[in-house]
Amino acid sequence: MQQPVVAIDLFCGAGGLSRGLQDGGVRVVAGIDVDPACRYPYETNIGATFVEEDVTGLSAKSVEALFPADGVRVLAGCTPCQPFSTYTRTKGARKGEWELLAKFGELVDNIRPEIVTMENVPRLERHQSFSDYTRKLEDAGYRCSFQKVRCIQYGIPQMRERLVLLASTLGVIELLSPEKPNTVTVRDAIGYLPPIKAGESSPDDSVHKASTLASQNMKRIRRSKPGGTWRDWEPDLRAPCHRKQSGQTYPGVYGRMEWDAPAPTITTQFHGYGNGRFGHPEQHRAISLREGALLQTFPEDYAFVPEGMSVPVSSIARMIGNAVPVRLGEVIGRSIMAHLRNVR
Ligand SMILES: C[S@@+](CC[C@H](N)C(=O)[O-])C[C@H]1O[C@@H](n2cnc3c(N)ncnc32)[C@H](O)[C@@H]1O
Repeated sequence: MQQPVVAIDLFCGAGGLSRGLQDGGVRVVAGIDVDPACRYPYETNIGATFVEEDVTGLSAKSVEALFPADGVRVLAGCTPCQPFSTYTRTKGARKGEWELLAKFGELVDNIRPEIVTMENVPRLERHQSFSDYTRKLEDAGYRCSFQKVRCIQYGIPQMRERLVLLASTLGVIELLSPEKPNTVTVRDAIGYLPPIKAGESSPDDSVHKASTLASQNMKRIRRSKPGGTWRDWEPDLRAPCHRKQSGQTYPGVYGRMEWDAPAPTITTQFHGYGNGRFGHPEQHRAISLREGALLQTFPEDYAFVPEGMSVPVSSIARMIGNAVPVRLGEVIGRSIMAHLRNVR
């Protein structure tokens, strides 16, 4: 009988990657994250142990103890991408976050799982910490591959681009090539949801909830065209920074999505109309939390808070925007399973 394939997900968040790995055939046994808000969605949807811990302080022994005695072991570690984003690169990364990648490397060294996977922003590839990390993996006997992924090629309705790393002690491992030729659009993903107004939630789904809009922003969104920018508005509606010459280079805020195109990258701020092109294609509001989750390819019934509990918008938006799209996680899971079929 073949051994099961079991994963521990470090920095597991609400479980985007874990859910995808499960869909791809990997058994996820535990997720570790410092954010207590992740416990409910993780345990409820993944059905695996959630360990609320700061990874920095974790010993290899305590992580190893979470793996069952038998099985091909997968260690996944999507370190937070903030220190690698354009924004934090220019503003300066918070102390300690760069070290999380090194800590993940240290855990891999000591645990020696057969498979390692990681997802992050593409520009990480150009950073010294990443080359140090892959070199360390190779020195330790892992075969490594990494590539920039355009999520739309994998049927994810979003312009998101990510870097995916796979490593194995068992032989060459590669991410499976895209199969889906058709682009999935915003309409495909969210077009069927019932309409709601800004500040409201659907009576059938408390997570289908949209942020309120101040009256100035309500005037602005009424003038906004799908795929357009604030340049479509009358000058008196423009923000003071956009009236100045220096503000002319930021067209990507206060936009509406287009029905028949993929969404922009869903960030942790997608619930705010002024934070990017996060306006609904035709309703006068930012997209709802459920719409953000669907654009991240979470299943439509993914639970983020217990029923009847009030829905904390920014905390749920953070978990959704931070997630590995579930469908990308599934591709990673299927790639691991295909690799094991080849080498076993
Ligand atoms: C990019 S998100 C991971 C998303 C997750 N893989 C998913 O697919 O849903 C990074 C996560 O790291 C967590 N985190 C940040 N610093 C941490 C630390 N020192 N220890 C444990 N978790 C941490 C954050 O709370 C966040 O949930």
